[in-house]
Amino acid sequence: TGYVTYDPGFVNTAATSSEITYIDGDEGILRYRGYPIEQLAEHSSFLEVTYLLIYGELPTSDELAEFTDKIRRHTLLHEDFRGFFDGFPRDAHPMPVLSSAVSALSTFYQDSLDPFDRDQVEISTIRMLAKVPTIASYAYKKSIGQPLLYPDNSLGYVEDFLRMTFGVPATKYEVDPVMAKALDMLFILHADHEQNCSTSTVRLVGSANANMFVSVAAGVNALMGPLHGGANQAVLEMLHQIQADGGDVKAFVNKVKNREAGVKLMGFGHRVYKNYDPRAAIVKKSAQDVLSRMAKADPLLELAMQLEEIALADDFFVSRKLYPNVDFYTGLIYKAMGFPTKMFTVLFALGRLPGWIAQWREMIADPATKIGRPRQLYTGAAKRDYVGIEQR
Ligand code: CMC
Repeated sequence: TGYVTYDPGFVNTAATSSEITYIDGDEGILRYRGYPIEQLAEHSSFLEVTYLLIYGELPTSDELAEFTDKIRRHTLLHEDFRGFFDGFPRDAHPMPVLSSAVSALSTFYQDSLDPFDRDQVEISTIRMLAKVPTIASYAYKKSIGQPLLYPDNSLGYVEDFLRMTFGVPATKYEVDPVMAKALDMLFILHADHEQNCSTSTVRLVGSANANMFVSVAAGVNALMGPLHGGANQAVLEMLHQIQADGGDVKAFVNKVKNREAGVKLMGFGHRVYKNYDPRAAIVKKSAQDVLSRMAKADPLLELAMQLEEIALADDFFVSRKLYPNVDFYTGLIYKAMGFPTKMFTVLFALGRLPGWIAQWREMIADPATKIGRPRQLYTGAAKRDYVGIEQR
């Protein structure tokens, strides 16, 4: 006892050890279970990466088939869940709808809440992976007043999410393979990022032995913040604003540098990367590819690239080592796919789900885990005596 270390924002404090994800922020390196993100983005698939993150090794084809099959069998939501979405205002942001629904999974699936029962952890893992895309598309459908579509288990994970989101009953929805591949790849890039704000939240909640559903729901809420996953929405809003103001990128960058009214360059900067975020490099290339292959030229892409170029040549950003992060270009791809801005962070959540689950499981299985309980430096009043209200 005696002294505590003061480290606001945990800039320099490791709260756990982990075998899942490796980041070297100075070099711009990201690896899942040792595999470089570039290789996984190019050659793997989202479900394969999900398996890798959760179980530690790339699956054999039998293992992957079994895993995929298990997920397919759990995509339906309990029928009573449909009414759940009716309670929210039509214009509700889908992130709190998602987190409420993930939390509510713990009320529908009470047979799998014990963190220390291996079979229960396994089935909640599958349920969560299978049902969250259904929940996400229901939240979207509700917001636009269209009927909810049941999952079609003959389709792939990402393909069916696209169909449930953009399809309508009685009309065959043709999944665009370019779009499905791009979204699968974006999910891979988002799948884990070691002890970021939402993942640390999942671990902190879980460290009290709270069940996986409510722990992950807490992570969804943390992700919504614009300094974290909400940045993908904020970037697009920023680009729209610059465009509406006449498209003067230099003037906007000057505003950021002059710290006018709290304006930040959204999609720039990172706590750990002091170099180009390796995910952003992949997303930038993909944005250019996807937009041209989907024949959807977007003047906002041009604007974003100008912003990047000006910022990377400016001493303000150079001296602070501020580079584009993963959120800088993703929104442009989501927009080209037809997602409204409000859904962007939900897409981040779908991608991050395996990471949250893997980290929660690692924590629960680690005998060194203790309840998360940071200390503080007390800076309030010294002891003083109560004064009756008539004397104040
Ligand atoms: N625009 C302008 N200045 C910035 C920015 C930015 N985007 N990011 C950092 N700075 C400045 C900051 O003002 C500070 O300057 P000074 O030393 O003169 O006071 C310096 O750079 C260091 O920044 P910091 O705030 O100490 O860095 P942090 O590690 O606490 O914050 C961050 C990291 C990501 C929250 C921050 O860079 C930021 O707010 N970026 C914009 C939001 C964003 O894009 N978030 C997405 C993060 S990546 C993926 C994800 O989690 O979703």
